[in-house]
Amino acid sequence: MPLEVIYYPHPTLRYTSKPIKRVDADLRRIADEMLDLMYESRGVGLAANQVDLPLRMFVANPTGEKGSGEEFVVINPVVERPKGSESAEEGCLSIPGLHGEVIRPKSIRLSAYDIKGNPIDATVEGFLARIFLHEIDHLNGTLFIDRMNEHAVSELAPGLDELETDFRSKQSTGSVPGDDALIANLSKWVDKYA
Ligand code: CO
Repeated sequence: MPLEVIYYPHPTLRYTSKPIKRVDADLRRIADEMLDLMYESRGVGLAANQVDLPLRMFVANPTGEKGSGEEFVVINPVVERPKGSESAEEGCLSIPGLHGEVIRPKSIRLSAYDIKGNPIDATVEGFLARIFLHEIDHLNGTLFIDRMNEHAVSELAPGLDELETDFRSKQSTGSVPGDDALIANLSKWVDKYA
């Protein structure tokens, strides 16, 4: 089945993703598909749980364009030594059309693995640090709207309500399973890779 971006308030977006214990050809293919989907969707980052996979992996490219800039597949990321703080506008492929200011550290130390199993150990700054922190938030079930101030997020309420109504109506007609079934579907991925 082709991967698809899931939208707020899909419950997998609130799931705490599991560390990956093994990488195989299927998972490498999934990472490639995630990159393609990210470029098609005009995003700069995409976390595995945004395509309904409960695993600690994300892809990113700060240029958002295939063939330009640097492409990242990041597995089991750990953030250390956050420094500074900076506010900038963020959006999210799972919360289409909505944007808001989020304060994040200016620089971080990232420990992780790439898709080949090579360790990544790097100081990351600026826009790339923001992308990585946004994606790592996803892996912990956190969305950028959770990090906005109360007043700013209240301005997004009509848009969020619309997404909620759309999702719940799909569940009520049966075209999307209920929350419990959606979460139960994740266990096969956890069993295979985590
Ligand atoms: Co996002």
